[in-house]
Amino acid sequence: MTKSNNLAFQFILFLLYSFLWAASADPHQDFITCCLQKSSDPVAFSRVISTPQTSSYSSILNVTVQNLRFTLPNTPKPRVIITPDRDSQIQTAIRCSKKHGLQIRILSGGHDFEGSSYVSDVPFFVLNMFNYRSVSVDAKSRTAWVGAGATLGETYYNIVKTNRSLAFPGGYYPQIGIGGHVSGGGYGCLLRKFGLAADNVLDARVIDANGRILNRKSMGEDLFWAIRGGMGASFAVILEYRVRLVEISKELTAFRLLKTLETNATDLVHKWQYVAPNLSENLLLELSLTVIQSNQTGKRTVQATFVTLFEGGADELVSIMDEQFPELGLVKKDCIQLSSWVEFIIYFYGRPLELTDSLLTSRVSLNPKSYFKSKSDFIQKPIPKQGIQKLWDMMLKIDFPALLMNWTPLGAKMAEIPESEIPFPHRAGNIILVYEKIQWMGTDPKLMQQRIALIREFHSLMGEFVDNDPRAAYADYRDLDLGVNNVGKTSVEQARIWGAQYFKNNFDRLVKVKTMVDPHDYFKNEQSIPPL
Ligand SMILES: Cc1cc2nc3c(=O)[nH]c(=O)nc-3n(C[C@H](O)[C@H](O)[C@H](O)COP(=O)(O)OP(=O)(O)OC[C@H]3O[C@@H](n4cnc5c(N)ncnc54)[C@H](O)[C@@H]3O)c2cc1C
Ligand SMILES: *[C@@H]1O[C@H](CO)[C@@H](O)[C@H](O)[C@H]1NC(C)=O
Ligand SMILES: *[C@@H]1O[C@H](CO)[C@@H](O)[C@H](O)[C@H]1NC(C)=O
Ligand SMILES: *[C@@H]1O[C@H](CO)[C@@H](O)[C@H](O)[C@H]1NC(C)=O
Ligand SMILES: *[C@@H]1O[C@H](CO)[C@@H](O)[C@H](O)[C@H]1NC(C)=O
Ligand SMILES: *[C@@H]1O[C@H](CO)[C@@H](O)[C@H](O)[C@H]1NC(C)=O
Repeated sequence: MTKSNNLAFQFILFLLYSFLWAASADPHQDFITCCLQKSSDPVAFSRVISTPQTSSYSSILNVTVQNLRFTLPNTPKPRVIITPDRDSQIQTAIRCSKKHGLQIRILSGGHDFEGSSYVSDVPFFVLNMFNYRSVSVDAKSRTAWVGAGATLGETYYNIVKTNRSLAFPGGYYPQIGIGGHVSGGGYGCLLRKFGLAADNVLDARVIDANGRILNRKSMGEDLFWAIRGGMGASFAVILEYRVRLVEISKELTAFRLLKTLETNATDLVHKWQYVAPNLSENLLLELSLTVIQSNQTGKRTVQATFVTLFEGGADELVSIMDEQFPELGLVKKDCIQLSSWVEFIIYFYGRPLELTDSLLTSRVSLNPKSYFKSKSDFIQKPIPKQGIQKLWDMMLKIDFPALLMNWTPLGAKMAEIPESEIPFPHRAGNIILVYEKIQWMGTDPKLMQQRIALIREFHSLMGEFVDNDPRAAYADYRDLDLGVNNVGKTSVEQARIWGAQYFKNNFDRLVKVKTMVDPHDYFKNEQSIPPL
């Protein structure tokens, strides 16, 4: 740099500093100063930095926070948010945060159940991957490169726009981010035929703890294995994934049937456990369970919603159901034809199919945001009728908003993939993935404690009906009740308490990979894999 260039550069920096910290000196000014000084384009970098003193800060947080439980005044907030638009900014941020003792929290879609991408008790900055959202579909090779910050809906929209017979087997909720979802597993309406989102990853571009940009070849198979379901935030910043697109039949049929205790819901749910995990891979029979006020008796009752996606026509579906599950009483007029598989997502949430494109591509949360706490389970053996009755009894005792469960049948492809193929281990032998959720409205901390106590009680009741050696949990349904890391060093044995629930025997390989790629534990958070 020439002397005058250097002076001009210093002057720009001076302007940036005055702009960023007009008032009080921020304790993390050093981190920002470092980022700007080390950057080849400090002006561009300054545009992607927000602090509590800048106007963009609260709106960025507002958009990204999905669980209102983490919007309370006492929720610890990031000192700095960086929304990078190029790789070098991420490399610089990693370098400078190491130097200035700020932990990193990586955020793609912000749907983490425990707010782990934007909440921490230690000083931290958020790396918000919002700008890494390109989706580039190659219909010929049936693959796509998808940015970590793209949403599921944007991804699906772009795939189907190219060819409506192509699909990516990810989750339901359109606003979920690819970065968190795929790196924790990711299941949706195609899981019984094609497995998880993470089962369909072919390559990835990441930045490691040393700031190196790596792809599958340069990172090696161990790290590549770990970032497909083993919680990406323990290992690297995921920039984008290359995913396999799968082929879906053009003929798609769906139905939704609502049953209550008055219309035999208990018997039907009991029978469903034997039927749904055993159906053909072309048939997904999802079940949602909640409590409603019956419009006939005015009394509270359990409502079971059976929602189905079938690759094939209505006549065939009715005849399969007649044979396998006649008690459900499906008739042809209950069925509707879908014109593409993405419509099923909108149908699943009970929205008008005409809105499919706009609901998929919207960045606004499909459902209103709420205060919630969720848990997961994997069921190995059908729950006996008396057991189901016990679940109802407790659900009926809980005030509105009612406790909600989704039961997703496994089996088919999910049971064929070996347990060690990727870190997600809940394969053969598991018949149902259970999602348990409690909500409440309002900021009253007493109410929050009461509601969280209720879901814990419900979860321990569920424990009577599942394997407890160890009890299994789904990594993408993060639950800090299972255990957290220490602020300082955490032993592998301590982390195993929660780690074995998410990963069973794959936990040890995750520790091995972590020790290899991040021995100094740069990528540390409340529930990250510790190195040996
Ligand atoms: C309303 C709702 C519906 C859901 N439905 C489903 C569903 O149908 N199927 C399903 O499988 N799951 C579902 N989930 C769970 C969801 O898949 C997980 O919460 C997922 O981790 C969210 O990813 P995200 O990027 O949106 O979240 P974030 O909060 O941004 O990230 C989640 C975790 O991943 C880490 N992370 C994020 N981006 C990166 C990155 N680029 N590199 C490294 N680490 C990263 C974060 O640090 C954090 O630990 C649902 C969640 C919600 C709130
Ligand atoms: C976030 O923005 C929405 C819509 O503008 C607003 O209604 C809400 O109050 C904001 N939430 C917080 C926590 O600021
Ligand atoms: C769409 O993809 C399917 C499955 O790969 C293929 O058979 C079909 O020819 C494609 N259609 C177009 C228009 O490319
Ligand atoms: C409930 O089941 C009983 C016997 O199993 C049957 O006779 C009755 O018709 C069913 N009721 C409804 C509403 O399906
Ligand atoms: C599923 O079907 C297989 C083979 O038909 C049978 O052995 C098994 O018991 C069934 N599982 C359940 C849960 O009914
Ligand atoms: C009562 O409930 C049934 C089934 O849930 C529904 O089809 C019907 O429209 C409801 N009736 C009213 C008046 O809400």
